[in-house]
Amino acid sequence: MQITVIGTGYVGLVSGACFAEMGNAVTCVDLDTAKIDGLKKGVLPIYEPGLEAIVRENHAAGRLRFTHSLPEAMRDSGIFFIAVGTPPGEDGSADLQHVLGVARELGQHLERYAVIIDKSTVPVGTAEKVKAVVAEQLGKRGRNIEFDVVSNPEFLKEGAAVEDFMRPDRVIIGTDSHRAREIVEELYAPFNRSHQRTVVMGVRDAEMTKYAANAMLATKISFMNEMANLCERMGVDVENVRQGIGSDSRIGYSFIYPGCGYGGSCFPKDVKALIHMARQNDFEPAVLHAVELRNERQKSVLFDKIVARFGGDLNGRSFGIWGLAFKPGTDDMREASSVILMRKLIDAGATMIAYDPAAMDTARRELPRAWFAGNRIRLAEHQYDALSGVDALVLVTEWKPFRHPDFSAMKKLMKAPLIFDGRN
Ligand SMILES: NC(=O)c1ccc[n+]([C@@H]2O[C@H](COP(=O)([O-])OP(=O)(O)OC[C@H]3O[C@@H](n4cnc5c(N)ncnc54)[C@H](O)[C@@H]3O)[C@@H](O)[C@H]2O)c1
Repeated sequence: MQITVIGTGYVGLVSGACFAEMGNAVTCVDLDTAKIDGLKKGVLPIYEPGLEAIVRENHAAGRLRFTHSLPEAMRDSGIFFIAVGTPPGEDGSADLQHVLGVARELGQHLERYAVIIDKSTVPVGTAEKVKAVVAEQLGKRGRNIEFDVVSNPEFLKEGAAVEDFMRPDRVIIGTDSHRAREIVEELYAPFNRSHQRTVVMGVRDAEMTKYAANAMLATKISFMNEMANLCERMGVDVENVRQGIGSDSRIGYSFIYPGCGYGGSCFPKDVKALIHMARQNDFEPAVLHAVELRNERQKSVLFDKIVARFGGDLNGRSFGIWGLAFKPGTDDMREASSVILMRKLIDAGATMIAYDPAAMDTARRELPRAWFAGNRIRLAEHQYDALSGVDALVLVTEWKPFRHPDFSAMKKLMKAPLIFDGRN
């Protein structure tokens, strides 16, 4: 099938590459010309295990193309995935300017029946807005072309995105159009070989399913962080508690590791957007408020421990930071706990040497220039380089190479053998 994927970020590029891997002809579109130029040369804008190989292979085989021109991509295709960002607005609502911008452009150039599929995480009612915008543009052109808007939220996890897309737990298809349903089901058929994974429902139900899933996962994290804080005050080892409760199949082992708060481009913004949706509907989401509050406080826990040990004035103190990405397996630092911690350390006068197995380029690009210029932070070449002469190591992201480090080598490098462990 001929597919266009609009937005070539974590979701768009992975979806496009995986659909191409299944034999489809895919065109990935992005406004960011540097991204597109890089992709044409095989340079990926993001780190994601297994992605580079399938992008290069499918590009070489002619099944995966890249362009910054949506009208050009539209010439060959009648299936459009919208996978652009939906960042939080000032009031916590999902900012739909990119999604609706794509809808406008689609309406301006549509020439035949099309299925427009929202893969971005969007509030309930967005498909109706997309439909209205496309129809408005068609009206301006005096054209009467049929189209359907489907909700197909994405559940991939950064760090395992290709694996998740290839073997999804479920594929949610939100539509009341029989014609669109058949097309989208056919598209996902190769991902359903071992058993049926598609769940078809109403458009609004599908939109809400994505928010409910992310809010549930964020709730598990905040709940476990709350337990960890309580355990610490009561002389209880939360790791034993984790194993004790995880063995209950109703609870399960996933997502119950305590840590220094959830980050990334999804959980924080999606919990905020759901709270905003609730308020718009005159409903006070008490649980979601608590989830956010616990997470906000959790992001200070490591810093509070450092202050409890060294006092509030950290001038002359230096810290090694292990892990900058918001979780292992990705180079994404959006809303990462590491950034909040580093800002607090710098404000208190400390300096840092930081290391991450994948996020060094992101750190160079996204951390404030003043931190580098003022020698507040230096990026290390290797995990052990981040330890030379430091007063303590702060472990923020639980990458595998940090699990069994060489403690005796570390002791020799550090001023004192002190570790603040944000991941237990
Ligand atoms: N990252 C994840 O793990 C994940 C998982 C599931 C769902 N989602 C959702 O998927 C959506 C995309 O997330 P992401 O992390 O891939 O975002 P991203 O920021 O990595 O990528 C978005 C891309 O869209 C491009 N873009 C913006 N406007 C455009 C336009 N008009 N035309 C063409 N390209 C345009 C941007 O240049 C950017 O490259 C969001 O709604 C997000 O909540 C993300």
